[in-house]
Amino acid sequence: MLFITALALAATSLLHVVSVDGNVLRKCFNISGSFSIDLPNVYPESGDFDPATCNAYISSTGNNTLVIYHFPSATSRAVQFPAISYSAEYLLDGIDFDRFSGDVYISAGALPAFFTNGANLTGPSVLIRYSPCQDCVVWMSNITDLVASLEAKLGHPIGGFQDQAEDR
Ligand SMILES: *[C@@H]1O[C@H](CO)[C@@H](O)[C@H](O)[C@H]1NC(C)=O
Ligand SMILES: *[C@@H]1O[C@H](CO)[C@@H](O)[C@H](O)[C@H]1NC(C)=O
Ligand SMILES: *[C@@H]1O[C@H](CO)[C@@H](O)[C@H](O)[C@H]1NC(C)=O
Ligand SMILES: *[C@@H]1O[C@H](CO)[C@@H](O)[C@H](O)[C@H]1NC(C)=O
Repeated sequence: MLFITALALAATSLLHVVSVDGNVLRKCFNISGSFSIDLPNVYPESGDFDPATCNAYISSTGNNTLVIYHFPSATSRAVQFPAISYSAEYLLDGIDFDRFSGDVYISAGALPAFFTNGANLTGPSVLIRYSPCQDCVVWMSNITDLVASLEAKLGHPIGGFQDQAEDR
């Protein structure tokens, strides 16, 4: 239902404001093609896109910040997380935009998992929920102990998480 309505409107106006089931859904520009981000130290590992705000969310592994790129204005900014950004212990690697809440989930794992291709999975794991509209960290959960208890059950190491999923 939502998909058909959005498609029909996309044909007439790419910036049309529509209301579907009581939710306001702002259409973005046609963003296919390439774009460039002019910030130092960007080395993307993961990213996601919010079609309502036209924001792309990209993990900048150069210094573990979350880069928010706004397509219509072609501007970007970097969000820092306490204890994670600028820390050599972590790699900000999984970005997932949750379209139900509008928030972004970010996983930060121990850096060696990435550089050893998964051979060394020891070290901390942290999950972050960030609210772009409030520009604040909703919560940061240190899941290191949870991961350790799962490892004990499974009998082998796990880590280097690169994705998240949300239910409603
Ligand atoms: C978006 O741009 C792509 C590539 O330029 C084009 O193929 C596609 O038809 C465009 N879509 C819309 C809805 O304009
Ligand atoms: C960290 O990376 C962000 C995003 O690329 C950038 O805006 C910021 O200037 C960088 N900080 C340093 C100290 O390089
Ligand atoms: C694996 O990484 C941890 C840091 O998370 C480090 O302390 C440890 O020495 C590494 N192990 C090996 C075998 O390199
Ligand atoms: C998470 O917990 C681990 C294990 O207790 C600890 O080494 C690490 O510093 C913690 N990280 C953060 C960001 O709190």
